[in-house]
Amino acid sequence: MKKDIIIALDGHSACGKSTLAKALAKALKYVYIDSGAMYRAVTYYAMENGLIEEGKAFDAQRIIDNLSDINISFNYNTTTGKSDTYLNGKNVEEIIRTIEVSRNVSEVSKIKEVRQKLVEFQQQLGKNKGIVMDGRDIGTAVFPTAELKLWITADKEIRVARRYKELLEKGYKVSLEEVRENVERRDFEDSHRKESPLVKADDAIVLDNSYLSKQETLKKALDLAYGAMGK
Ligand code: CDP
Repeated sequence: MKKDIIIALDGHSACGKSTLAKALAKALKYVYIDSGAMYRAVTYYAMENGLIEEGKAFDAQRIIDNLSDINISFNYNTTTGKSDTYLNGKNVEEIIRTIEVSRNVSEVSKIKEVRQKLVEFQQQLGKNKGIVMDGRDIGTAVFPTAELKLWITADKEIRVARRYKELLEKGYKVSLEEVRENVERRDFEDSHRKESPLVKADDAIVLDNSYLSKQETLKKALDLAYGAMGK
């Protein structure tokens, strides 16, 4: 029998990590965890509770002081067949994807205490393996010994166009320029922060999906996963 493994997917904003991670988990009957949703949920909490205020200087200490009041969980949604993100018992799966949350999330994810809390939770979720997790530091900080690490990438303009389409389809009013600005800024901030910056793990395999269909990308990743399971 093939052994259960940990599959870590990392990469820049909107590179197709979540789409691939969900499809991989479904095909392998693994658990899928979106670590970005956790950083987004903390950011949403901070915005909703006045810890981040428009036009005011960002105050990390206020977020750190409130961390113990933030409880994140995932619950399976029988209608969509996917798991939704919950913040203190409330389903926030949709609301955490807005461009407003995207504008603040990179600042929140720089905070060491936020990362410590979320990484600990992520590691707990991977204790029994059989998990696919995507994010920025999964192969480097969360699961440095993951059996399979994928570095997902795609040309920047393709990533911007995909995210723009996704937001429009959800009914959000955004411009292509706003989306481009956000993707570029998050890519820069995520790659240049002090705590667990976004970098490719030395042993990660690069998967460029710029000109691959979702099916083609899944096939490549599945082949790699079966290879890693048989090791
Ligand atoms: O979907 P997209 O790739 O645009 O972003 P996401 O995966 O939802 O992550 C949102 C933000 O959370 C990122 O821009 C990072 O600032 C932060 N993040 C992180 O620092 N570490 C992770 N493991 C996952 C996300």
